[in-house]
Amino acid sequence: MRNAKLGSLEVARIGLGAMGMSHGYTGAGTDDAESIRTIHRAIDLGVTLIDTAEIYGPYLNEELVGRALRGRRDQVVLATKFGLVAHGGRGLWNLDSSPANIRIAVEGSLKRLGTDHIDLYYQHRVDPETPIEDTVGALAELVREGKIRHIGLSEAWADTIRRAHAVHPIAALQSEYSLWTRDQEEILPLLRELGIGLVAYSPLGHGFLTGSLRTPADVEALDDSDFRKNNPRFTGENFLRNLRLADQVQEIADQVAATPAQVALAWLLTRGGDIVPIPGTKRVSRVEENTAAAAVELTEDQVATLDALTPAEGGHHNEAQMQMIER
Ligand SMILES: NC(=O)c1ccc[n+]([C@@H]2O[C@H](COP(=O)([O-])OP(=O)(O)OC[C@H]3O[C@@H](n4cnc5c(N)ncnc54)[C@H](OP(=O)(O)O)[C@@H]3O)[C@@H](O)[C@H]2O)c1
Repeated sequence: MRNAKLGSLEVARIGLGAMGMSHGYTGAGTDDAESIRTIHRAIDLGVTLIDTAEIYGPYLNEELVGRALRGRRDQVVLATKFGLVAHGGRGLWNLDSSPANIRIAVEGSLKRLGTDHIDLYYQHRVDPETPIEDTVGALAELVREGKIRHIGLSEAWADTIRRAHAVHPIAALQSEYSLWTRDQEEILPLLRELGIGLVAYSPLGHGFLTGSLRTPADVEALDDSDFRKNNPRFTGENFLRNLRLADQVQEIADQVAATPAQVALAWLLTRGGDIVPIPGTKRVSRVEENTAAAAVELTEDQVATLDALTPAEGGHHNEAQMQMIER
């Protein structure tokens, strides 16, 4: 697989999101052995960027990734995130990017991951209570101490990105970017001006773009803990209207003898060598399918058709989650 650049960090063009192995999706945590095989298969196929976060599980996903990487740590670029656990008492799903919280968070992540350094350490969400300069200042100290190698932000917008980058180079912004979530295209010129890469999370539209959810009954059958159950794009009329998008992706897939997941990823790869999708899966067969997207060629016409897909109906997160996203 070819490489991509995230700032000065080089990674293979397609990464692996580990979240769903322990968190957020139906079946999370039910088959750790298959999840670990999936991480190993990804590495064998040339994937280098492995993505987790302390909040996934919480903590369980980092522990799982740490177990999977025993003896293989040096083969990967390991990325994790802090800032959605306030260790000082407010607990889970509370923003805290204060220097004191980062100090506690990084030690926990290093321990769970079984490593002495994190290659790419992201702020998971911007914390309006802590100036970004203080957060990045604390991260820059961790770089100097060798505990982390590169700094990332997630779902941050222009002003924060500029201010953060002025304190210490930011290697990557990790935000939702896919055929049905296009607002990152507004921020791409700034990222390119500053030499920051874009890590595209949920590149398969939480699985929707693969065509695996076709009826309201399919959504109804998901676990109650599956966050798609109250995602506006998967509910009510929106879900039915959005099916058209999945059909359009399927049409292109038929033309190029690929799967819809591969088309969704191949389209992202056409956007530039500084964009790295991190599709999430807990299955060996799907990591094989997703990684093979690096070899799928789309014609200019097909790219143009995909560029012009019907916009999705509904926000890409529910309201509570949207409030933590900086715009
Ligand atoms: N920074 C952030 O705030 C943030 C937010 C969300 C996610 N992320 C990161 O981004 C990664 C990817 O995002 P995501 O997992 O939310 O969404 P995604 O990659 O768009 O979709 C994952 C879903 O699609 C299914 N899937 C994967 N490959 C498939 C295929 N070839 N055919 C059919 N279904 C397929 C998965 O099920 P199976 O597992 O059963 O295959 C899972 O349900 C996460 O793992 C996480 O590391 C970051």
